[in-house]
Amino acid sequence: MCGIIGYIGYRDAIPVLVNGLEKLEYRGYDSAGIACLPHQKERFFVIKEKGKLSALKEKLGDFSVEAHLGIGHTRWATHGEPSRVNAHPHIDAAGKIALVHNGIIENYATLKNILQKKGMRFLSQTDTEVGANLIGLHYHKTPKLFDAVQRAVSELHGFFSLVLFTKEDPETLIAYKRSNPLVIGLGQRENFIASDVTALLPYTREVIYLEDEDLAVITAKEVSIYSLKTRSWVKRRSSTVNWDVAQAQKQGFPHFMLKEMYEQPDVLKTILNKRIQKNGEIFFDTLSKKFQTQLKNIERVSMISCGTAYHAGLVGSIAIEKYAKISCRTQVSSEFRYGDSLLNKKDLVVLITQSGETADTLAALREAKAKGAATLAIVNVVGSTIAREADAVIYTHAGPEIGVASTKAYTAQLATLLLLAFYMAKIRRTIADADFKKLIKEIKKIPQHCAKILKEIKKFETCAQKHYTRRNFLYLGRGCNYPTALEGALKLKEISYAHAHGYAAGEMKHGPIALIDHEQPVICIASNSFTIDKMISNIQEIRARDGIVIAIGTEGHRELEKMADDFFSVPAVPEILSPILTVIPLQFFAYKIAVLNGRDVDQPRNLAKSVTVE
Ligand code: M6R
Repeated sequence: MCGIIGYIGYRDAIPVLVNGLEKLEYRGYDSAGIACLPHQKERFFVIKEKGKLSALKEKLGDFSVEAHLGIGHTRWATHGEPSRVNAHPHIDAAGKIALVHNGIIENYATLKNILQKKGMRFLSQTDTEVGANLIGLHYHKTPKLFDAVQRAVSELHGFFSLVLFTKEDPETLIAYKRSNPLVIGLGQRENFIASDVTALLPYTREVIYLEDEDLAVITAKEVSIYSLKTRSWVKRRSSTVNWDVAQAQKQGFPHFMLKEMYEQPDVLKTILNKRIQKNGEIFFDTLSKKFQTQLKNIERVSMISCGTAYHAGLVGSIAIEKYAKISCRTQVSSEFRYGDSLLNKKDLVVLITQSGETADTLAALREAKAKGAATLAIVNVVGSTIAREADAVIYTHAGPEIGVASTKAYTAQLATLLLLAFYMAKIRRTIADADFKKLIKEIKKIPQHCAKILKEIKKFETCAQKHYTRRNFLYLGRGCNYPTALEGALKLKEISYAHAHGYAAGEMKHGPIALIDHEQPVICIASNSFTIDKMISNIQEIRARDGIVIAIGTEGHRELEKMADDFFSVPAVPEILSPILTVIPLQFFAYKIAVLNGRDVDQPRNLAKSVTVE
């Protein structure tokens, strides 16, 4: 949450900062701001605005400032309401330091009290200004900003990252990371720093991911990193990012979410091509021999994740139990991290995350490692903290996902987890060769099925049009499509703000049936399954109570088609693969309803793409 960008070099800093903030805006959009040091001037140029970046851009239109050093920020409010005064960058009380911050300074109230007693005045309600003033206080005592930051961060509690500079040294940016991500972009006679690589892609692909407790000194010519952990200057290896710049643009689509939904067949094709070898075996290039052996011997699996990734974990868990025959449980990260999990070295903990930075999932990973479990991260963002800290990582290769509502990252997680389950079944010899071959043959067809669904998806538009003004929706599913019901409901509520509830269809009679009336649509995920008859009975029960039935079923299921008020079909596949297909019409349904309600699809209220605070 919150996006940070910093630049130092020969270019005009302001356009670089604004372009960077455009890429980072998905991380928070309560306010935006930049601070830079105008050429040959001794005063900061600071401009901030409440609301989206567009408001800041409009305000910037009136100014012409030549600067080659600057920082920018897009905010997801934690301490203090969204307002101009609470927007970053913040300037310390002495007017010498400009600072942006991502994360939370937990002891800010105590520190603020101390600083106020020393006569310091605060303008905002933020924890960030406390950080700026504490650094300012130390800077007053030591002539070097680097030393001042080092002293200050040792007094700050919590998890955060900072980027700052002083007007007294126009040649240097300072950055500090504790948990929240920062990546340095390396250029020729210029350098960059940002919360994630998408902001750097237009300028460079050579990056250095900072590690926890790294304090970086960045000039136009060089980058030096001091580790506060080892108390020494360190060399961090740079890596090359191979994401395509175009992937982080809308490419003619009205919204990133829609574009990302349409990218799903290609993403799935990439995953399958990478993971399935010519001989039909599954291969994970990033798993060492040692880790593969561990996978053979583990006795229990836990899938830990948040939001959409949690739903992917629910499907993955069903597949692991069904095929690899290992007991597997699924938990949301925030519950896991504060629970009394009984993990030991016979456990495998699978952390599923698009961003690789989710605070609760990261804490869960650290907890699992501390207990001696083997940890495997299923991550989209290459080089992210969780990817780097887990014992092993499998990347989902979905490319940059900008829309806050996860779509392609979800189906990529599903495909990856299913392949992992089949792979574990194979190495543990819990699947017959013929069954394995059949699953591989069928999963290879998934991208083309996905493409077919997307080709026909417009048919579903009339259904969204019929129901877009309704405020309550119920989603029902069974087995591996119960998670689809949860995911469909999450998609709808997060972008349309309608109330949507996902439920296991078999639980309907234990309560939710009381909700059935002629006003609340019930979306029933009823693709082919050994429980389809049960699902049909549930649908009959809904109809008998005058309910509105929207069914997602398998092609050719005439009975279901007749029974439902609206029906959308997906191709026939083995049941375990069906969640990849059945979710697509639900993504589209949520998208359409949100658009028809005039919602901000890519940046829904109160949300941020990457939840780096708990
Ligand atoms: O980056 P992560 O996968 O760890 O994020 C987890 C959730 O925050 C995320 O899936 C969230 O629920 C999405 N907005 C759902 O569309």
